[in-house]
Amino acid sequence: MKLWGGRYSKDTAKPAEDFNASISVDSRLYLQDIEGSKAHAFMLGECGIISAAEAADIINALEEIRLELESSSTELENDAEDIHMNIEKLLIEKLGETGKKLHTARSRNDQVALDLRMFLKEEIHRILKMFIELETLLLNIAAENTNTIMPGYTHMQKAQPISLGHHFMAYFEMFKRDMGRFTDCLKRIDVMPLGSCALAGTTYPIDRKMVADILGFSDTSLNSVDAVSDRDFAIEFISCCAFGMMHLSRFCEELVIWNTEEFGYIEMDDGYSTGSSIMPQKKNPDIAELIRGKTGRVYGDLICLLTVVKGLPLSYNKDLQEDKEPVFDAGDTLKSCISVFIPMLSSMTINKDRIKSNLRGGFLNATDLADYLVKKGLAFRDAHEISGKIVSSCITRNKELTDLSLDDFKSFAPCIEEEVFEFLKPEVCLGRRNTEGGPSAKRVTEAVLCGREFIKHFAETLINK
Ligand code: ARG
Repeated sequence: MKLWGGRYSKDTAKPAEDFNASISVDSRLYLQDIEGSKAHAFMLGECGIISAAEAADIINALEEIRLELESSSTELENDAEDIHMNIEKLLIEKLGETGKKLHTARSRNDQVALDLRMFLKEEIHRILKMFIELETLLLNIAAENTNTIMPGYTHMQKAQPISLGHHFMAYFEMFKRDMGRFTDCLKRIDVMPLGSCALAGTTYPIDRKMVADILGFSDTSLNSVDAVSDRDFAIEFISCCAFGMMHLSRFCEELVIWNTEEFGYIEMDDGYSTGSSIMPQKKNPDIAELIRGKTGRVYGDLICLLTVVKGLPLSYNKDLQEDKEPVFDAGDTLKSCISVFIPMLSSMTINKDRIKSNLRGGFLNATDLADYLVKKGLAFRDAHEISGKIVSSCITRNKELTDLSLDDFKSFAPCIEEEVFEFLKPEVCLGRRNTEGGPSAKRVTEAVLCGREFIKHFAETLINK
């Protein structure tokens, strides 16, 4: 007999029952469901809706159910449909009449919204902790590489000199914004929906604030219809995961490129590479590629839930049961990617010599030559033109700018002096790029310090939450 079976003269058809059941997915919410039910029972007792003794019995029995589920001595069943009814059924088996009182002033519609919100609050904490670890690693690598001069690229063409440290700090900034997005999303998740019941609240004198306080929510929802229909908090969570994946995938793409024979800027550790079944020489960066690939499924999760909710009339509709798989998958995927990305990154070798030798070619200092001419009194447009002509003549003669003689330089611009050779050295070019947010070692060192402060403060606030 179903918990809702009163008006039914027949059992649910087996195919319908199996199709309708969500227990295989939402069993993951057992702890949130039990904690939510305990808080609800306590409140019912305090408000005199059930007796204090009944509330205590329910709370104790729920605790027993938790232990039994954790020791696997109790099975969850398809015919009880979902985690909410499975637990209620187990409670009634234990307590009989008293167990049947738990669902007073509650519906699965507000219960499932509560459970998912509780789950996501914890999930975001787990994700943020991983981001802290990742950011700390980036800061350490950046700090060690403020003087590892590297070509910066635009259009995958060598552009201007930066440092590896500066490049890594670019990712630090991206992940910092991801952390900000999760923190922001947390505010909208931290709203307690219980008391909205099916959609129209309840006639019982409940205390919603009490439940919110017990469960550590900052707010209670303000509209009972919205509270059971809304999944934008879950969509927002997945979108935060998608941003994180997007950034990881860009990083992975660069690592794959840098790991090639052609670039050779880094070498993935053997432990984070895999071989080919046919080509004995291969050492493939599969882990980085797989992270890049898994980005697709998280984008899929986002589109999935956006589409489930699109055009859905108010309030609760069973379509919403489809929310959990994309939510769980997005969080799981992001967490597994960060947790393998961290050791992959920390174990790779940075080939500083190779990076250095790659500073030749590509005329990374061509802008600096134009800047030099500006210093000598030319307008930037004219300086750009002359520098371009010098580059062009070097290309024909297969030379670097600094391979030219002073007379060569003077034939393009008589104002050029001997000092130009010093001016065009990569380390001197980098040192001059000293604007706020710029790549000079001084600025990157500052950025790392500032980043360390941010992470320290972020970690402290997270622990206190
Ligand atoms: N398993 C359902 C879900 O995940 C719980 C709510 C069901 N409510 C209902 N009236 N059928 O959405």
